Amino acid sequence: MDQDLWSAVDGYIAEQLLAPDPVLDAVLAASEAAGLPPIAITPNQGKLLELFVRIHHAQSVLELGTLGGYSTIWLARGLPPGGRLVTLEREPRYAELARESISSAGLDDVVQLRVGPALQTLPKLHAEGAGPFDMIFIDADKQNYPGYLEWSLKLSCAGTLIVGDNVVRSGAILDPRADDPNFGDDGVAAGVRRFYELLADEPRVSATAIQTVGAKGHDGFALGLVTAL
Ligand code: DHB
Ligand code: MG
Repeated sequence: MDQDLWSAVDGYIAEQLLAPDPVLDAVLAASEAAGLPPIAITPNQGKLLELFVRIHHAQSVLELGTLGGYSTIWLARGLPPGGRLVTLEREPRYAELARESISSAGLDDVVQLRVGPALQTLPKLHAEGAGPFDMIFIDADKQNYPGYLEWSLKLSCAGTLIVGDNVVRSGAILDPRADDPNFGDDGVAAGVRRFYELLADEPRVSATAIQTVGAKGHDGFALGLVTAL
């Protein structure tokens, strides 16, 4: 385990491959100043998400867990003209900051931000006929990942790419005690483990997960392609 090295390599990669970005730097600075938890994706991960959107030719993206809007901006930047992104945030205070971030990136016309618990907003989106989305990024509270996956499928079509953040948690997902409600992590690892089980049992999704190390430690992304619906 060498967090310093992982962070230094992340810095090197960003320096080599990512253009200077005063807008995104300001978004992170504002999030820190406002006391938001420092759990946004890293710049290199943001670029990866932008590339996923572009590789997939996604024209519509749904994000669960806006936080301060940092990942939202990366995702929205991958969209073609006319593309749209819906992002869901439970905390009004985070959402307020995210709105400013999204505006500062010139993305007001692309991004719709909906405030409230995602498990309440997702059925509304479904009832409104807001889907299907070409790509869905799940990055909200880990305890509800199983429910988020189920609703994501309702808002998908064949070809939808589902990306889940934080599916390794420094290996905490391996701990058999995770399924015990008294494990002490508020059900985070249990939520992620159940998410894997649902993916495993879901014939309509072809999935894998990739471990990552970097400035945010040891974690990972799950990728699921909806193959039929
Ligand atoms: C946490 C949440 C995240 O989405 C993340 O990327 C890292 C950490 C957390 O709640 O601890
Ligand atoms: Mg995350």
